[in-house]
Amino acid sequence: MMAEEKKTDEMAPSTMTAQESTAGEGANVPMDNSLEALQARIRYVDGLPREPHDEQNVIEVSHLMKYFPIKVGLFSRLGGYVRAVDDVSFNIKRGTTMGLVGESGCGKTTVGKTILRLNDKTAGQILFNGIDIHRLPHEELRRLRPKIQMIFQDPYSSLSPRFPVNEIIGEAVREHHIVPNAEFDDYIDQVMLSCGLQPYHKDRYPHEFSGGQRQRICIARSIALKPDFIVCDEPVSALDVSIQAQIINLLMDLQNELGLTYLFISHDLSVVEHISDTIGVMYLGNLVEHGSKKEIFSRPLHPYTEALFSSIPVPDPDVKMSRVILEGSIPSPANPPSGCKFHTRCSKCMACCSESVPELKEVETGHFVACHLYD
Ligand SMILES: Nc1ncnc2c1ncn2[C@@H]1O[C@H](COP(=O)(O)OP(=O)(O)O)[C@@H](O)[C@H]1O
Ligand code: SF4
Ligand SMILES: [Mg+2]
Repeated sequence: MMAEEKKTDEMAPSTMTAQESTAGEGANVPMDNSLEALQARIRYVDGLPREPHDEQNVIEVSHLMKYFPIKVGLFSRLGGYVRAVDDVSFNIKRGTTMGLVGESGCGKTTVGKTILRLNDKTAGQILFNGIDIHRLPHEELRRLRPKIQMIFQDPYSSLSPRFPVNEIIGEAVREHHIVPNAEFDDYIDQVMLSCGLQPYHKDRYPHEFSGGQRQRICIARSIALKPDFIVCDEPVSALDVSIQAQIINLLMDLQNELGLTYLFISHDLSVVEHISDTIGVMYLGNLVEHGSKKEIFSRPLHPYTEALFSSIPVPDPDVKMSRVILEGSIPSPANPPSGCKFHTRCSKCMACCSESVPELKEVETGHFVACHLYD
């Protein structure tokens, strides 16, 4: 299991497509990559039906768990598990963005990678347009890859320094026969332009671009595959503040133009504010609050969400802030506190909080909170 896990963990979507394609049958036959054709093939090839689901949702995550085994000692004895994602459920509607926030190490990246099956799951179900991603046979997963993409935090390490930009953007376009060969060059030019890159720079190498432009190349590489869903994992965290808004605006423009659906991950609530339609707040592997951006920003209910808000600086010296300071360090996800995992740092902790686990409950329409204050 570990060998398989290591293999999938290490593969970025773009490299995966190249590696997998060499094994695929009929790799030279142009493939209809529309979602309908893909779904029809899935039904035809192995009889896997689409699961019953809400057609409005592109992504449906139910009770997702991802535990990483901890190996100890000389003989790699199993010493327990890092409970990186511990029963998380949410849906993302077509054409919308869900912001996923929480401190470093709370499991955001693991949620994103497991949705895309870059990690194996421990339990739960993930549906992409009704297709159970983790049950797909390998060949069907390869065909699905263009539709589900990921943009990483660090545009420096996610681009190969040995290839010029047109090769970086075009490699998987060729592998998946996204456009006929005769249209390839024009298509790459068009994708570069739509991401704010000049096509006459297409023979340049990544080191010749600035950080913001490199992130534009990463975005171009993803959208060139005509995806439906993109996990954006801290895509602006490594960039200067002045560039961050430009990249977020680019992602929003592309979403409007192409009808994309995003999971936008950030440790910073102020970054997700502009782009998100809904927001999920994670703490130690759990979703502790989930709702529309308006609800979460106007009425944060969970004490942890309140604490995250009060850490956002307000650029007005006249505004008096009642800060909620998060005390203590984040407990280990290998040995989380009993009951409510936040009880060791919560200023509103009650007697019951260390004993019973609060369930995620809908306390107002579409506004979910996991806290005993709302029982
Ligand atoms: N491949 C892995 N093997 C073991 N532990 C991991 C692996 N990936 C992540 N983790 C652990 O899972 C927890 C959540 O990590 P991650 O999802 O990267 O958090 P975030 O993106 O919120 O910072 C962390 O404790 C991290 O150390
Ligand atoms: S359940 Fe208790 S400890 Fe947890 S957030 Fe609510 S009040 Fe705080
Ligand atoms: Mg992360």
